[in-house]
Amino acid sequence: MSFSVAVIGAGTIGRSFAWLFARSGYSVQVFDPRGDLAEVVAGLQADVSADAAAHNMLASELGSISLAESVEAAVADASFVQESGPEDPQAKPKLFAQIAAAAPLDAVFATSSSTIPASLIAHHLPAEAAARVIVGHPFNPPHLMPLVEVVPAPATGPDTVERALEFYRSCGREPVALNREVRGFVGNRLQNALMKEAISLVANGVISAPDLDAVMKNSLGLRWSAVGQFEAMHLGGGDAGIRGFMHHIGASFAKIGDLPLDLSDAGMAEVYSQVEEAYGETPSRAGAEARDRIQRSVLEVRGQGGAHSEECSAAVQADQGSGQTVAW
Ligand SMILES: NC(=O)c1ccc[n+]([C@@H]2O[C@H](COP(=O)([O-])OP(=O)(O)OC[C@H]3O[C@@H](n4cnc5c(N)ncnc54)[C@H](O)[C@@H]3O)[C@@H](O)[C@H]2O)c1
Repeated sequence: MSFSVAVIGAGTIGRSFAWLFARSGYSVQVFDPRGDLAEVVAGLQADVSADAAAHNMLASELGSISLAESVEAAVADASFVQESGPEDPQAKPKLFAQIAAAAPLDAVFATSSSTIPASLIAHHLPAEAAARVIVGHPFNPPHLMPLVEVVPAPATGPDTVERALEFYRSCGREPVALNREVRGFVGNRLQNALMKEAISLVANGVISAPDLDAVMKNSLGLRWSAVGQFEAMHLGGGDAGIRGFMHHIGASFAKIGDLPLDLSDAGMAEVYSQVEEAYGETPSRAGAEARDRIQRSVLEVRGQGGAHSEECSAAVQADQGSGQTVAW
């Protein structure tokens, strides 16, 4: 029997994952209660086939995407389940109880959740099923972004971590396992720290919103597409590496204090108005396309291009940058 994958939830993330998994050769069953699921699945399957034909893939290398009538039908034969339903701490544990009751006894149950830990999702499950629950948190869109944060709960079995890492690698991703649960995981904690600083700089009148974006794109963003935080410090500290960096710059960086920060709508009013004036009130599709095109080019240069970073379907991208979803 071929390795089968279930995708539960076909919104922004679920559609992108379904495309990626099928493009990686898996047989994918998709369930979502949305009324247009048949249309969504047909669009995804057509896009996978067209993309494979454009890359001269053999039929045997190609997976498939099928519609499932229920959660139970989707997971019945699944070796790996990627749940991408709504970010609702009440709904996810119920959904996982349904998944665990109907899936094979050795299936791995991953959630795309950005904030809900596996321990909360699995807390009502029998220990044997809880050991197979894990967070597999992507960055949007997962068919393009290599990172998947694999976050085990204390009850998650070590082999579940290994199997999740292996599965995502088989789809061309670069998963990273966290040692333990922490709110926001790692990527969003880093993003959160930067987001708060950016907002306070604009709200306190230090710089305009588009100029702050120019600072990011023309310095840190460029550097961070090549090296990570610690590698950058090590390379920037002379022969003494990170120690040299800290001895030269660390003390003055430590004196940089926080500016006032107010994340309420009232506190954000100036930031909102500057961003909407610079980029339009509704995020543009052209903006999302430019973002993806540049990111794909960076992946190519880094040698992480190939099939999984290709421009894909209208069906996958239907909600990207439309303003209908929150993308981070
Ligand atoms: N959007 C992002 O940038 C992003 C990034 C990383 C992780 N995530 C996480 O991915 C998950 C999905 O986010 P999204 O942005 O795709 O949301 P979304 O609102 O676009 O999609 C959610 C989908 O779940 C479906 N759904 C509702 N009830 C369901 C049920 N009982 N069973 C199956 N499907 C059901 C909805 O019909 C909808 O299509 C969330 O947990 C979110 O935290 C989102």
